[in-house]
Amino acid sequence: MDFSVTESLAAWEANAEFWDTQMGDNSNRFHREVVRPKVSQLLNVQASDFVLDIACGNGNYSAYMAAQGADVVAFDYSETMILLAKKRQGNYLDKIEFCVADATCPESLYKLKRNRKFTKAVSNMAIMDITDIRCLWKCVYDLLEKDGIFVFATQHPCFVTLTDQYLTSHSYYGDAIAGQPQKQCYYHRSLQQIFNLCFEAGFIIDGFYEEAYGIKEIPDIIIVRARKSSSLMDHFL
Ligand SMILES: C[S@@+](CC[C@H](N)C(=O)[O-])C[C@H]1O[C@@H](n2cnc3c(N)ncnc32)[C@H](O)[C@@H]1O
Repeated sequence: MDFSVTESLAAWEANAEFWDTQMGDNSNRFHREVVRPKVSQLLNVQASDFVLDIACGNGNYSAYMAAQGADVVAFDYSETMILLAKKRQGNYLDKIEFCVADATCPESLYKLKRNRKFTKAVSNMAIMDITDIRCLWKCVYDLLEKDGIFVFATQHPCFVTLTDQYLTSHSYYGDAIAGQPQKQCYYHRSLQQIFNLCFEAGFIIDGFYEEAYGIKEIPDIIIVRARKSSSLMDHFL
């Protein structure tokens, strides 16, 4: 069974305040120790960057990028989340433009186009929360400048799922944080489905990590860097 955007948004609206309180100003240990180090390494944010933060939550990673001097357009489909992000990141509102937009909808994504192309795009732990990702890479590709990069971290689909299906995409309910008011919708896609969307949009993948929470052999997340390359030959010349 596939959950709709309406169902998934209703859960995030119900959970937005809880999420913001739990993440606070510094995010949780999982984000700080498992997600952020490799995302930041692959993204390598510079003061000259203009970055699109996809499904930004309460904006903590946008604030990290703004603190490096980058200009950021950050969006989330939850209006409540964006209100909370604006409040929490009040010191950075000259560097971050927070918007309500839906990552499943091309019209909504293209409205994020500004007077310059994005140098980079990032999405932390949201791909598995997004109902339909078929248009996302194509739209991000169009919004990025030549050689722009899209770094995303998401649940490792081989090891983190509550069902026994791997090859067939499907959705299920789960909790991001224990005690959250409402269970949220998760969307499982295999690695080949995720990677093929990157390739079909025209990206090449030139960075990849699998990271685990604590010392163990089974990773919890993947971190991928997709690079916009007008032609593969450009890359090798
Ligand atoms: C697990 S949170 C991660 C938030 C933030 N990136 C972070 O790392 O703290 C997932 C976020 O994805 C957002 N989201 C889910 N589906 C979305 C969609 N279709 N468009 C925009 N945002 C979406 C949710 O509202 C939520 O804020």
